[in-house]
Amino acid sequence: MTGIVSQDGEKRLVLVSGRAHPELAAAVAKSLDIDLLPTTAYDFANGEIYVRFAESVRGADVFVLQSHAAPINQWLMEQFLMVDALKRASAKTITVIAPFYGYARQDKKHRGREPISARLMADLFKTAGADRLMSVDLHAAQIQGFFDGPVDHLWAMPILTEYVRTRVDVQNVTVVSPDAGRIRVAELWAQKLGGGPLAFVHKSRDIRQPNKTVANRVVGDVEGRTCVLVDDLIDTAGTIAGAVRVLHEAGAKDVIVAATHGVLSDPAIDRLQQSGAREVIITDTLPIPEERRFEGLTVLSIAPLIARAIREVFDDGSVTSLFDGQS
Ligand code: R5P
Repeated sequence: MTGIVSQDGEKRLVLVSGRAHPELAAAVAKSLDIDLLPTTAYDFANGEIYVRFAESVRGADVFVLQSHAAPINQWLMEQFLMVDALKRASAKTITVIAPFYGYARQDKKHRGREPISARLMADLFKTAGADRLMSVDLHAAQIQGFFDGPVDHLWAMPILTEYVRTRVDVQNVTVVSPDAGRIRVAELWAQKLGGGPLAFVHKSRDIRQPNKTVANRVVGDVEGRTCVLVDDLIDTAGTIAGAVRVLHEAGAKDVIVAATHGVLSDPAIDRLQQSGAREVIITDTLPIPEERRFEGLTVLSIAPLIARAIREVFDDGSVTSLFDGQS
C-alpha cells in the first residue's frame, strides 16, 4: 500500500499529484520517503480531463499537490476533479496543496462588475471536497479567510533569506519592496538580513490592462548599497525590471531580486536578463524548464518545506513551528 502508515496503524498518509509539476511532486515524495500514489490522468479530444487513482484511498489522509502553472485553468480543473474523486472514494481528509495559488491577484474588486476570483477558487476547492488548503506565499495573506477550513500558509522567506545571506554583505543591504503593498514583507526580510534600511518603489498601475505597471521612483536609502528587491511573484517581469531600473538610477551599487513564484510569462526572461540585476532568485513552486533558465537565475527547492508541512499536518504537529512561531 502506497504512503505512510502511522505507528499505531490508525492513519495513512497518501500523496497524489496532478500533471502540472511532476518534478516538484517527485521531490516532495522523496523528502517524505514515500512513493506517489499511482494515478491515471489524461485529456479527451475535446479537452475534458479524466483522472483515476489506482489504489484505494479509503480512510486515508490524502494530500493533493498541483501547482497552478500555465495553462492554469486546465491544472485547476484537474485538481478539482482529483479532489472530487478522492471524496467519492472515501478519503478521510483531503488537503489541497497549491504551492502557487492561481488567481490570487484577483482578491478584491477594483471596479464594479468584476469577480473576486481568488474567493471563487477557494469555494470551488471546498465544493469539490477539500478539508484543508496549503499554499506558499499567498499574494495576500487574507486569502486564507476565503477558504472555510484550515489553511496552512507557508513562507519561502527562510529558504530565500538563508541563500541571499551568502550572496551579500549584510552590512550594506537595503531591502526594497517593488510597491507600497509589500512593505510589511520587506520589513520581515530586513529583520532577517541584519536590520538594514528599507526602501520601496512608487509603482502605478493601469487597472484596465493586464500586467501594465510603471515604476516611478524609489523612496528610501539605496545609494551605494546592495538592494535586495523582494516580491511574491514574477509574471512578465515588468514590475521587477522597472524597479531594478529606478534603483540603478537612484545610485544602487547592485540589485539582487528574490521572489517566491517564477510565473515567468513572456517576455519575462528577456526582461530579467536585460534588467541589470546581479542575480534573480526564485523557488520551484512553479516548473522552470531548462530552456527558461539563464545565467544569473537561481532556483531554490521548495520541496523540503512542503514535505515538512505535510508531515506536521499528518502528525497533528505544528506548521507554525516551521517558522519560529511567526506564520
Ligand atoms: C503585484 O502586486 C505582484 O506582487 C507582482 O509584483 C506582479 O503581479 C508581477 O507581475 P509582472 O511580473 O507581470 O509585473
